[in-house]
Amino acid sequence: MRNINWTELSFGYVKADYNVRSYYCEGKWSDLEITNSEQIPMHMSATCLHYGQEVFEGLKAFRGKDKKIRIFRMRENALRMQFSARGILMPEFPVDMFEKAIITVINKNERFVPPYESGAALYIRPLLIGMSAQVGVKAASEYLFVVFVMPVGPYFKEGFKATSVGIFRAYDRAAPLGTGAYKVGGNYAASLVAGEIAYEKGYSAVLYLDAKEKKYIDECGPANFFGIKSNTYITPKSSSILSSITNKSLMQLADSIGMKVERRQIPIEELITLEEAGMCGTAAVISPIYRIDDVDKNQSYIFSKDGKPGPISIKLYNKLKAIQYGDEEDKFGWVTIV
Ligand code: PLP
Ligand code: COI
Repeated sequence: MRNINWTELSFGYVKADYNVRSYYCEGKWSDLEITNSEQIPMHMSATCLHYGQEVFEGLKAFRGKDKKIRIFRMRENALRMQFSARGILMPEFPVDMFEKAIITVINKNERFVPPYESGAALYIRPLLIGMSAQVGVKAASEYLFVVFVMPVGPYFKEGFKATSVGIFRAYDRAAPLGTGAYKVGGNYAASLVAGEIAYEKGYSAVLYLDAKEKKYIDECGPANFFGIKSNTYITPKSSSILSSITNKSLMQLADSIGMKVERRQIPIEELITLEEAGMCGTAAVISPIYRIDDVDKNQSYIFSKDGKPGPISIKLYNKLKAIQYGDEEDKFGWVTIV
């Protein structure tokens, strides 16, 4: 294997040794197969190619100081993948098979799990796709589940440094009763143009407003939004955002350190009252936000004058990482040791 510079890793594809697959045919999932092929042979009329029958997940495993590998909340990802699959008429992948596939793919690629000291992690990417041919708009009858892994560093190049995000009112990511709550490829396709405009202008993500009224904070690029004020952790309640497992964990951690937790609509005017803001997700972990620009309204909201993360964001980040890397007791039962 070529040498991996663990501390220099960014978030990108790195070829590992093996991936794990299962095929759905005649109503049944096949036993897990281990392969070293990076290719998926498929029919040119497969529904994943034409009608977006594709759901995916993202989770991480961490190597501790004790050298043990810990997987973070994989059951939550298994359940969310089932929820997403139901949302676009695909068969659910069983939770026990999902967990077995994750453990297998980690064991087979153990040498790609970054060392504790690097601060990097193993990113695990399961996906489920419609494989059989359809030209009419219909669900496939055959599906493929694949899970592959890669060692990763921070998603946003800033890592745990504060970044800025932009509101671009001409773009929506998902409709209130659409697919925003599912982790389906189409949502990411819908976010590419606005994302590119934001990157060109120097923002690390688009902060979407609710598509119906353009009044409330919605999804924040590939992450959930949160704000802190008066010892309260506040995060948007919306039918068009993905229910983030990181966000759920941060809500529990905030509660455990005596903060109030509110999951509710956040009107855009409320941004002015926030003491801290951030985005959170598996890939993003916590990315503190120092400034939000409402670009079309020419208005800015500033949360950090010196560009540094706020004290509560730092505390939550450290607590989450400590549990993930095994430095702190896993009181919530979030971690599976491989
Ligand atoms: N929102 C979107 C659109 C995402 O892609 C992700 C990443 O998975 C998240 C939020 C964060 O979710 P999680 O914390 O479960 O990774
Ligand atoms: C994740 O945080 O796991 C994501 O899926 C975000 C992005 C890479 C799509």
